[in-house]
Order: sequence, then C-alpha cells, then structure tokens
Amino acid sequence: MSQCLDCHELDLDAILEQVRPLLGKGAVADYIPALAKVSGNKLGMAICDIHGNIYSAGDANEAFSIQSISKVLNLTLAFNIYGEALWEKVGREPSGQAFNSLIQLELEKGIPRNPFINAGAIKVCDLLTTRLSAPKQRLKELLWDLCGTKSISSNRIVAKSEREFSDRNAAMAHLMKSFNNFENDVQQVLKVYFHACAVEMSCIELAKAFSFLANQGKSAITQSQVVSSRQSKQLNALLATCGLYDQAGDFAYRVGLPGKSGVGGGIVAIVPGECSVCVWSPELNHFGNSLAGSEALSIFTSELGRSIF
Ligand code: DON
Repeated sequence: MSQCLDCHELDLDAILEQVRPLLGKGAVADYIPALAKVSGNKLGMAICDIHGNIYSAGDANEAFSIQSISKVLNLTLAFNIYGEALWEKVGREPSGQAFNSLIQLELEKGIPRNPFINAGAIKVCDLLTTRLSAPKQRLKELLWDLCGTKSISSNRIVAKSEREFSDRNAAMAHLMKSFNNFENDVQQVLKVYFHACAVEMSCIELAKAFSFLANQGKSAITQSQVVSSRQSKQLNALLATCGLYDQAGDFAYRVGLPGKSGVGGGIVAIVPGECSVCVWSPELNHFGNSLAGSEALSIFTSELGRSIF
C-alpha cells in the first residue's frame, strides 16, 4: 500500500507515463466528425488546490472540446435559478444506461433520470432558455468568472458538426415535448446544448473552473461564491452517482471521487475540501469515457490515498 501524499508531492509526469501505454487502445469519438480529427496521442493532467495552486503535466495547457463536462456548468446555472424545483423536471438517480440512450425516457414519461445523460442535460438547457434571455452568453460569463479570464470560447465548427448529427438528441427533446416536459423550441434549445458541448478549455482551465466544488461552492481562483456549500455537496453527489453514466459504479470503485467525463476525452474529478483535478486523453473506452484518463485518476487517488468512500 502506498503512502498518503499531498497534491504538491505528487509526480504528475510519472502518473502520465504509467498510463501512456494505454494510448492506441481506445478510440477517439467519431460520431461527431469535427471531434474525430483530434490526435489520440494527447495526454494532460492538472490539479487546482483550494488555495488556487496549480500543478500540471503533459498537454495540460492545450484546449480541447469539453463536451459533457459542460453539463455540470449549465446545471450549476439552472440550480441557482430554480433551486429544488429543478427536480420536478429532471431526476437525480443514476441511469445505468449509455449517455445517449432513449429507452428510459419513454418508460419514465419524459422525465430524464438525471441532468448528465443527454436527455437531462438538454432539459436543463430548456429550463435555462425559459429563464435567461441569453443562456449561451451566461455560460461564457460563468466560465470567465470561474477561471478569471475571458479567453474561453465555444468552437463554432464543432457546434455546427454536432447540429448536423443531432437526430438522437433531437429525438430526446421531441419525446420530452410529447410528455409535456419541454417548454421551448427544440432547435433553439439544442443550439444552447451544442454551444456548451463545443466549449474548449485546457486541463488547467477546467481544474480552475471546478475548484468551487472542492471548496464548498467558492472558486479558489476568483473567490466568487458560485453555489452554496450545501448545493456544492449536492452537485458532488450527482457527479459521484451519475457523472460517468453506465461506468459510474466502476469509476467509484477504481477512483472513488465525484467526476464528470466528456467524449472529448476530458474527465474532471473532485477531492472535496482539497482540490479539483482534470485529465485529458481523447481515446475513449466503450462507455464513452477517457480510457487513459480514468486510469490516471485511479493512480492519482491511490497515490494520494484519498476517496470519498
Ligand atoms: O450530445 C452529444 O452527443 C455530445 N455533444 C456530448 C456527449 C458527451 O460528451 C457524453 N459524455 N461522455
């Protein structure tokens, strides 16, 4: 059993070298053509501790498509606006299904199981569209506020590519509408959703942006109170139970932290009270989560000797 370390004592380069042999064993997401162009060789990792110190290795400075990691940020906006009433429109139970599955949505009468499967994230965008005049701009402002920089933006080419291959996501929105659980024009809401998925950030920026979830709702970078301490605990619970879709149990077993993945190959994880961490490796496993990234996080928590369990 390894000795417990603090964040600053970890050798992140060594962690990345341990997982590098996994490169070539997964597959870059290709169902969105613009994502298929990314090189599978990328590997980066960054930590932001609750004092705002940053530790990084590999391609930690290179921006990539954050994809479903954005679902946490839109949820944060919606949770602040709707509070507990949010849960009348979207559930908070793990789905045990793939992120883009339609089966449960039909069986459960248009109420998505949780805000991280696509149906739930699209419903969150619907709720934001109802209450915000410019939901895309509001997400950007949140990101600028979390990272302390205005350099973050959404990639129009990726967003357009997603819209061109959006039949499944559109089907989910229409199914929710058929059950009276959708308030706005489907195409308008999908634009909000794809704009968020196409945001590009580096591991360092994502670790900074998610520091509020490690720090009782307060950004370690800008000191802004993003959500209450109680809401931060609740968001972390959703990450832990639903953030990795039908791999949530395996991720809990191997990593032991709240986490959120995206098909761009990023995974963000939270060590509550200590730090946020982001890994990036674009090749995915068959659950649609980063293959080398999840292994790097498993080594990270083993070396750190931390788990929420
Ligand atoms: O809806 C989609 O297909 C994507 N833009 C987001 C999917 C995603 O990142 C799923 N996460 N692993």
